[in-house]
Amino acid sequence: MSSSPLRSGGYRLQPGGSIAGSVRVPGDKSISHRALMLSGIAEGVSEITGFLASEDCLATLSALLELGVSIEHPHRERVIVHGVGMHGLRPASGPLNMGNAGTAMRLMMGLTAGRSFESTLIGDPSLMRRPMERVAVPLRLMGAGVLTHEGRPPVRMLPGGRLGAIDYELPVPSAQVKSAILLAALRADGRTRVTEPAPTRDHTERMLATFGVELVRGGRAIALEGGQALRAAHIEVPGDFSSAAFFLVAGCLAAQEPLTLENVGVNPTRTGLIELLREMGADIRIHPRAVQAPSAEPTADLEVRASNLRGIKVPQALVPLAIDEFPVFFIAAACAEGDTLVRGALELRVKESDRLAAMAEGLGRLGVEHDLLPDGLWIRGRGGLTGGALASYGDHRIAMAFAVASLRAAAPIEILDVANVGTSFPGFVATARSAGLRIEEF
Ligand code: S3P
Repeated sequence: MSSSPLRSGGYRLQPGGSIAGSVRVPGDKSISHRALMLSGIAEGVSEITGFLASEDCLATLSALLELGVSIEHPHRERVIVHGVGMHGLRPASGPLNMGNAGTAMRLMMGLTAGRSFESTLIGDPSLMRRPMERVAVPLRLMGAGVLTHEGRPPVRMLPGGRLGAIDYELPVPSAQVKSAILLAALRADGRTRVTEPAPTRDHTERMLATFGVELVRGGRAIALEGGQALRAAHIEVPGDFSSAAFFLVAGCLAAQEPLTLENVGVNPTRTGLIELLREMGADIRIHPRAVQAPSAEPTADLEVRASNLRGIKVPQALVPLAIDEFPVFFIAAACAEGDTLVRGALELRVKESDRLAAMAEGLGRLGVEHDLLPDGLWIRGRGGLTGGALASYGDHRIAMAFAVASLRAAAPIEILDVANVGTSFPGFVATARSAGLRIEEF
């Protein structure tokens, strides 16, 4: 694998340790991006609480400011957005820099498609390598002018006439592509229908309903009529399940006393990892919190205790429902007894890094027997790992996953290039330390 340019910093972890207590993870990244964007095109003033003030979401916030939305951010977790309405965005003064955030870029393509002005979307070196045609293709079918550079950013959203509705079957299960189409569909003439090959996270659908948009969901299809206005709303962002995931696995490996994760989003399109870990023998208890409205995001406190994990064959249907959790799932598999096999996970190759290759390399350095497959990984778990120095490839989830591995390591672990942890989990080191990881930064 070619390395990403080094941003900075590293983690050093002492082996072993035990996990316990109570942890609150920061707000959900996917929901925070969407809350900003939908508030921006709504009519009226929206309030977002529990907002994730991470680099990724702040890139979305800056882009909306550039597009003429007025936003107050009086507190890290509270944002007030003065919506400009569906047609109120204005041209930015320069390219919109979406940083490391694939979600921000792809959803922003839907938001800026077929406007009266041009927008250019760029990002950091990792984002500039990621595929954008999967969004460009359906948006072009709707009549938008979209230029990519050999399928990748910079993406130029050209000024254009009206958008038209489409009936589109997604070739890959992707919530980002689905969401980009739904955002463009709000301004299209007629009824757009998107059909997914398999269920993916449905935060956009739920939040559109909260903003007063009527959509029809049946089976794997979602349909919405263009021309509907969004009414300002109050969005309460729950804790990010994908951030909680690192502590769920940490708890499975080393919580002799229970570890509780408070107020975590447990939307069933996100919680595939719980099913996978339970299948491996994990002891995870879900204590649901009250849900306000049918479209609201379900939340719960999660309680986990250490158990002896055994290897499993991952069911294909769970892959999209645990897509961001595979780096830390592979650590659970390496610390389990027996073989774990994941197939049909080609999408992992086009995330913030090639997560199959990055995890295979790191697991190899930690003495874990494995086979890297074109679309998955075969891991032969032996209950523990050695130590060593690992590359994160600038990928936040790879860095955090290997931090969790220290709980079962025989020697210290060093993880390089960890600055991008701030894209999704500001305060990770302090939270990890409070839970029991022996982690320091250098
Ligand atoms: C996301 C969708 C997923 C996920 C990403 C966030 C979203 O990506 O991996 O971290 O917020 O819609 P894909 O749509 O590419 O599967």
